[in-house]
Amino acid sequence: MKTSITTEYVDELLRKYLPKNCDKVVQAMEYSLFSGGKRIRPMLLLATCQAVSGKINDSAKTMAVVLEFIHTYSLIHDDLPCMDNDDLRRGKRSCHMQYGEATAVLAGDALLNLAAEIAFSGPLGNKNYARACQYMFAMSGINGMVHGQSLDLFTETKSVEDAEAVALHKTGDLIRAAIVCGAFCGGASDEQIKIFDEIASKLGICYQVVDDMLDADKCEKSFLDIYSERDLKIFAAKLTAKIIELCDSLPYNLEYVKEIVNKNLSRKF
Ligand code: IPE
Ligand code: IPE
Ligand code: MG
Ligand code: MG
Repeated sequence: MKTSITTEYVDELLRKYLPKNCDKVVQAMEYSLFSGGKRIRPMLLLATCQAVSGKINDSAKTMAVVLEFIHTYSLIHDDLPCMDNDDLRRGKRSCHMQYGEATAVLAGDALLNLAAEIAFSGPLGNKNYARACQYMFAMSGINGMVHGQSLDLFTETKSVEDAEAVALHKTGDLIRAAIVCGAFCGGASDEQIKIFDEIASKLGICYQVVDDMLDADKCEKSFLDIYSERDLKIFAAKLTAKIIELCDSLPYNLEYVKEIVNKNLSRKF
């Protein structure tokens, strides 16, 4: 029987791995982990594994937790005064506003380290799991999301290609980690992994396009520096159609993944 993949299902997985002590840093980690995140990355990972293998295995559950921990750390650091200087995250005080900057830095550090510890606790002797781990940390580091954050902060965006490169790395690489690690955990073939990666890269860009439209009032680097809102909507719709086409080219029932892809276009937060 198929598992229904909900935010509650993900929350339950995450809770198992939270440290039990009442350190102030742990409180900050918990605050940011459970403050209304949409959980799209772990849900995509679990849904892809389920579509490929027919079930959600322990490898995918572990990787889903690792990914949401990494995503949460990236947001805590992204909001810091030295980065985007955002007082609010998901309509609530951002981590450093609630707990102070030093605690927020440490909460991010702790989430990343705990993510590595959890990854190492999994079945490393299983080739698919080991490949998923390698891909996860490649996509979150200096060849992945961290590189994207650097492009976002320190480079000029002059063309569509520049804007796509920023989005592909700062946002797309953790979405690639989600879908490709789900595919690895499910046992997809190398040929199929390439298609999953293409789906995820396009979704990553499309996710950031929608994010930029929702954040139109922020003075930050944005696709709106390049496109008008009308053209951006057309761009996002075309990308979404291409993603669905790629999903349909695979021999799996990717209904749940497609639902997330389609919902992105009309999301309100
Ligand atoms: C926010 O991601 C940052 C981006 C990379 C666009 P999400 O919108 O997925 O964050 P949650 O749902 O608040 O965790
Ligand atoms: C966040 O991008 C990307 C990462 C945290 C890796 P943004 O800075 O554009 O996203 P929001 O608007 O703060 O969520
Ligand atoms: Mg940012
Ligand atoms: Mg930001």
